[in-house]
Amino acid sequence: MQSIYHFDECIDRRGTGCFKWDNPNSVGKLPMHVADMDFAVAPAITRAIARRAQHPVYGYTQIMPEYYDSVCGWQKRRHGWTVERDWVIPVIGVLPIVAAALRALCGEDRTVMVQPPVYDCFYHCIERNHCRFVCNDLVLDRRAHTWSVDLDDFERTMVREHVSVFVLCHPHNPVGRVWTRAELEGMAEMCIRHDVVVISDEIHSDILMPGHRHIPFASLDPEVAARTITCTSPSKPFNMAGLQIANACISNPALRARVMEEIFASNAWIVNPFGVVALMAAYDESEAWLDACNAYIYENYRYFDTFVREQMPGYALSPLEGTYLAWLDIAQSGMSSEELYDILSRETGLKPCVGANYGAPGRDFLRFNLALPKSRLVDGCRRLCSVVRRIGGHDA
Ligand SMILES: Cc1ncc(COP(=O)(O)O)c(C=O)c1O
Repeated sequence: MQSIYHFDECIDRRGTGCFKWDNPNSVGKLPMHVADMDFAVAPAITRAIARRAQHPVYGYTQIMPEYYDSVCGWQKRRHGWTVERDWVIPVIGVLPIVAAALRALCGEDRTVMVQPPVYDCFYHCIERNHCRFVCNDLVLDRRAHTWSVDLDDFERTMVREHVSVFVLCHPHNPVGRVWTRAELEGMAEMCIRHDVVVISDEIHSDILMPGHRHIPFASLDPEVAARTITCTSPSKPFNMAGLQIANACISNPALRARVMEEIFASNAWIVNPFGVVALMAAYDESEAWLDACNAYIYENYRYFDTFVREQMPGYALSPLEGTYLAWLDIAQSGMSSEELYDILSRETGLKPCVGANYGAPGRDFLRFNLALPKSRLVDGCRRLCSVVRRIGGHDA
């Protein structure tokens, strides 16, 4: 695919300290695992960082008013959501926001609901912050390979387990769903009915496949917003996770004050000066780059999907609506995700993520990162197929 942004270029990450390639053991390996991109960032981001680096003072950083304009402007333009400046709290990452919110919200009743298969760090974050998690498993339609919310179970679990907080992953990592308005409204209604606060992790909300629109959970209506902590960041869509910049958006002043107290308590509000300028360059100057990047990821997804259909009978991808994470059903192999991962990693150097790590409903799946040059994806497909052909498959 032709693009002025060089997504096809295979960047050598060695010497950067970044995950995946920067390790002597990674020679010959194709790690399609951790959720960052193998693409260079948008040119405006590099320029902004270089400009800032010219000034030799890298001290503690105060946020300037234009920063809030960038954050609010982005939400308005891209998602039609009106965010007021006062709602925005810059923080060093999304997980630090989730952790702070859990500490602020989980009183005596420390029960938090999640929707497996889901981002594995949620489990660790909940437990390390002395809460317990309960599960409203997503439901798989094995013929269409789609995942949906079981709303009856959503409500039953909330009531039975005395849930006080729900962590929504929107869009959903790893199943790649972008929740529809009807689905969001269904969940919101239950949260209002049972007085549950929602942490809506929207870190993947800017990576959208054609035909899909992200609806911020808090944008549904003011009553929903009043019980929602929204987490956003340019880190996934603009490939700048190492710069550690994210924002909590909370319209309810009382809720905001409680969460802010916990963010202050952990000093997670002192952000990186390079993250600040990079965020502004991303949101103010890099929309065209993001659109091209999403288009490239979509072509990678189509290539992978066609490859799986044509070369790997019985295997299937869930339809990708958002994120750059492909979710492959490997039940046909007759192996667990750990077993198949071990073979792939040992024999081919391919390193996807083990589905079982995302919770029980993920045990027949592997997650592949599609934000990489096409040539590497083609190489990955070849490696995957060599193993799938050799191990054969049982009749599922
Ligand atoms: C759903 C989700 N939330 C949060 C994170 C991590 O965010 P941060 O690095 O800003 O803490 C990730 C990273 O993969 C993620 O997929």
